[in-house]
Amino acid sequence: MQTSSLNYETIIEQKLAELSFNKAPIELYEPIRYILNLGGKRLRPQLIFIANSLFEENIEDCANAALAVELFHNFTLIHDDIMDNAPLRRGKQTVHEKWNTNTGILSGDAMLVIAFAQINKIKSARIREIYDVFNTTAIEVCEGQQFDMNYETESNVSVNHYLEMIRLKTAVLLGGSLKIGAIIGDASEKDGNTIYTFGENLGMGFQLMDDYLDVYGDPSKFGKQIGGDILSNKKTFLLLNALQMTKGEDQIQLNKWLAITDAGNTEKVKAITEIYNRCGVDQLALDKMQEYYDKAYKNLDSIDVPEHKKLQLRAFADMVSKRAK
Ligand code: IPE
Ligand code: IPE
Ligand code: MG
Ligand code: MG
Ligand code: MG
Repeated sequence: MQTSSLNYETIIEQKLAELSFNKAPIELYEPIRYILNLGGKRLRPQLIFIANSLFEENIEDCANAALAVELFHNFTLIHDDIMDNAPLRRGKQTVHEKWNTNTGILSGDAMLVIAFAQINKIKSARIREIYDVFNTTAIEVCEGQQFDMNYETESNVSVNHYLEMIRLKTAVLLGGSLKIGAIIGDASEKDGNTIYTFGENLGMGFQLMDDYLDVYGDPSKFGKQIGGDILSNKKTFLLLNALQMTKGEDQIQLNKWLAITDAGNTEKVKAITEIYNRCGVDQLALDKMQEYYDKAYKNLDSIDVPEHKKLQLRAFADMVSKRAK
């Protein structure tokens, strides 16, 4: 009998609650408790359990790996919000807004260390491989984040640069989580790699959707500032295509707004969104997203385990790919 996704979620919350952050100095630990208690979808830790369930189930190793990736993910969110100057996360104040930037830096650093400590609790004989996937993934996320920042001010960014940037900053962590779950289950190298590629493609679609929702999302559901990417001139799929497609007055206006970089300009968000709408880049982004989800389903088909074992992973892919406005 397979454990259900709902049970995985319960295990993840219980395990997170067991991490004791109720200690001194509270200035270090309180922000960690705060961000973890804001919830979030817990996609990456769920992926560890679900990937593992295709192979030999080991709940305890998965729980430790799951905490590690969720801690790592939340650490990146604290630092990302500093870098992106973001006021809101999961519908609440970001850590650096509630406290300050120094607090965000150090609490984030501590979370990364605690994430490593969780990996260290894994008993699998293949622990070195797990470390390797974790470390490779973590450094790639940093690379992606740096490209993302570089591109804010670079003018010759191509769609391919963007796709590689989101692969690094987002997609590899979904792939890495799945691969770690598979290795814990003693999957073959081939299956580990296929499930990684599945996660990468799912993650590409996921980040394209995140960028779309940054403009078109429902603020009450999205939990982040709408238009944040526009305000910081992020070279998203939307902007890169708009830069290529606009002509005449729209092109002049788009470039004018890109030169205005003072934060909090709602006029800028409105004007650029209207340009996006006029050139139809919203639909283009959704089409690109679907391309990646289609690839992900093909990867899923080719994982060499009986179909009934894949049902949860399929349901998870459905849940992510049908994420609505
Ligand atoms: C946010 O990830 C960062 C991106 C990669 C877009 P999630 O959308 O998974 O964030 P939470 O954990 O559910 O809040
Ligand atoms: C997500 O990029 C990448 C990481 C957090 C590593 P975003 O900057 O788009 O994420 P959100 O939208 O702030 O969650
Ligand atoms: Mg951000
Ligand atoms: Mg960012
Ligand atoms: Mg975003």
